[in-house]
Amino acid sequence: MHASLLLLLLPSLVSAAIFPSGSKVKMIDHSGFTKAMKQNETSIVAFVAPWCGYCQRMAPEYSKAAQGLDPLVPLYAVDCDEEKNKRLCGEQGVKGFPTVKLFPRGSQLPPQTFESNDRTASNFFYWASKKVPNNVKKITDVEDVDVWVSKNSKKPKALLLTPDKSTPLLWKVLSNKYRDSIAFGAMKDKNGKAAGALGFGKGGKEGKSVVVVYEGGKGGVYQGKLKKEPLSKFFDSLLSDVESASTLLSYPPSPSPSSSKPEAQTEVPSEPETAADPEPLKESVVESVGEGEGEVPEPEAGQRAKDEL
Ligand SMILES: *[C@@H]1O[C@H](CO)[C@@H](O)[C@H](O)[C@H]1NC(C)=O
Repeated sequence: MHASLLLLLLPSLVSAAIFPSGSKVKMIDHSGFTKAMKQNETSIVAFVAPWCGYCQRMAPEYSKAAQGLDPLVPLYAVDCDEEKNKRLCGEQGVKGFPTVKLFPRGSQLPPQTFESNDRTASNFFYWASKKVPNNVKKITDVEDVDVWVSKNSKKPKALLLTPDKSTPLLWKVLSNKYRDSIAFGAMKDKNGKAAGALGFGKGGKEGKSVVVVYEGGKGGVYQGKLKKEPLSKFFDSLLSDVESASTLLSYPPSPSPSSSKPEAQTEVPSEPETAADPEPLKESVVESVGEGEGEVPEPEAGQRAKDEL
């Protein structure tokens, strides 16, 4: 009697412990999955079963990747052993455990399956970083900003002036999320010269990012925190309530250099963004963390996405 009771209890006990406590991996069911797919964001979903040894071995690595990618790319897991999730796992073509799939933009783009058996935190991390769709227009000259702003002028535009050589992952994440409603651009501006030339700021600000937002022919500098959540909130309000959003913008005293027609409509070459070359994947040190339990291992340097522009 006791033994069979234990057996009945066992699956849920094991299931609770697949991922370390405090893990950023969020367990979801069918409705959680549907919700996640509506977000238009890149996310990763691991389809697992609690009895599967590969899943247990993957769990600390997957958790470490989740922590490194938080809050830019969410990592989820579905327990396919649970009755209520069986249909979802079937629909997703799960034939073995673990099956890890990346959804580049919710349900709007076809998912990709993680094919390697090397399920390390760094492999997950670079896979996710590389696969976030990049809808950021790279602009190299101040003159080209005008062309870009006047093109497709119905959409608000968000231009990042960044000291970074490559487009920050956070900016790509946002460009993916708001792809249908806001045009995103990025321009390297190491010392604030471009910002100054565009009429924003005095220039000469070394190493600082500036987000310029163009809406209805007017440009302003976004004054909030340059992190994912405040920026998302700002873009949401920009789309629903331009008036209140514009309180977060500071405008230059003189009208922005908007509709002055440049003589040559030089096409900005739309070179595909060379995503920051991922470092060669190092063997990551695999600490042997017991099944579930235990702390979430810390991501190594370079395996943490910056939530700041
Ligand atoms: C996701 O994209 C669709 C289609 O472009 C849009 O209708 C929907 O509002 C977007 N959802 C969110 C949460 O942004």
